[in-house]
Amino acid sequence: MTMPNRSTPGIERNAAPYLHGTEYAALAAVLAAGAQPRFLDVDPTTLCVTGEHVRTALTPATRAVMPVLYGGRPVDLTALRAEFADRGIVVVEDAAHAFGSVTLDGTPVGATGNLTCFSLGPIKNLTCGQGGLIVPRDAEEAERARSLRGLGIVETSAIRAAATSYTVAAAGWREQMSALNAAIGRAQLSGFGVVAARRQQLWRAYRTALSTVKGVRVVDVDVDHAVPAEPHSPHRFEGRGMRSEAGRRAVGRVTSHRLRRRLIPATARSGAAHRSS
Ligand SMILES: Cc1ncc(COP(=O)(O)O)c(C=O)c1O
Repeated sequence: MTMPNRSTPGIERNAAPYLHGTEYAALAAVLAAGAQPRFLDVDPTTLCVTGEHVRTALTPATRAVMPVLYGGRPVDLTALRAEFADRGIVVVEDAAHAFGSVTLDGTPVGATGNLTCFSLGPIKNLTCGQGGLIVPRDAEEAERARSLRGLGIVETSAIRAAATSYTVAAAGWREQMSALNAAIGRAQLSGFGVVAARRQQLWRAYRTALSTVKGVRVVDVDVDHAVPAEPHSPHRFEGRGMRSEAGRRAVGRVTSHRLRRRLIPATARSGAAHRSS
């Protein structure tokens, strides 16, 4: 039996420029699948790939395309769907930031027909404390994901509880979410509309406050369609202007706004974060 490869030898966290803005986890997933990652340029105004970036980068060896929905912004690759199908290319969306976001035609991220992965980490749009969600494309993929997260065991725990043996179809991992984490997520879900609206409100407030500050570029997350993730990050105010007096004052204006109790000063890099509680 071949064990899934979980190691990522020789790769440093900041080895690739794009990783400064996003997460090594996306790269780790590619390596864990035994695939060879290839990095693409992104649109500097959104920090996301476009269809054109992807189209020009495809090679005969391409098997999957993994757009990072940076800051929660949906990435629309539907124009390439036919080409992907012809070439046997799968789209795996890194939607870690994008729970609650919708595409231009109003389709929720996760319902677009792609294999989509959300993070439910502590500072994500919807949190369970820790964990994530995979939206598979069909029942077979769902079964495989369930089996892989449970050591490769085929039967559900309910079936196993009533049996004396079980089947291991392939090597897997111990990655089930605990019931405690799931309970947190369910409670969070019931208030998600309020959280989503607040995140959008905060994003707009930061954008307005920073619009006149020299040397600051507000990343465009398409706030009308996105629930901005990690309000300190989709607001990734690029540029040294954030460390200027004017940058600090602008963030201070938002944090002294009536939303004050929801906001806390945070890192030097991003200038501000807000409490998720
Ligand atoms: C873009 C991106 N992808 C993947 C992940 C990994 O998510 P998790 O920590 O839930 O595994 C993160 C986490 O911050 C992320 O920002």
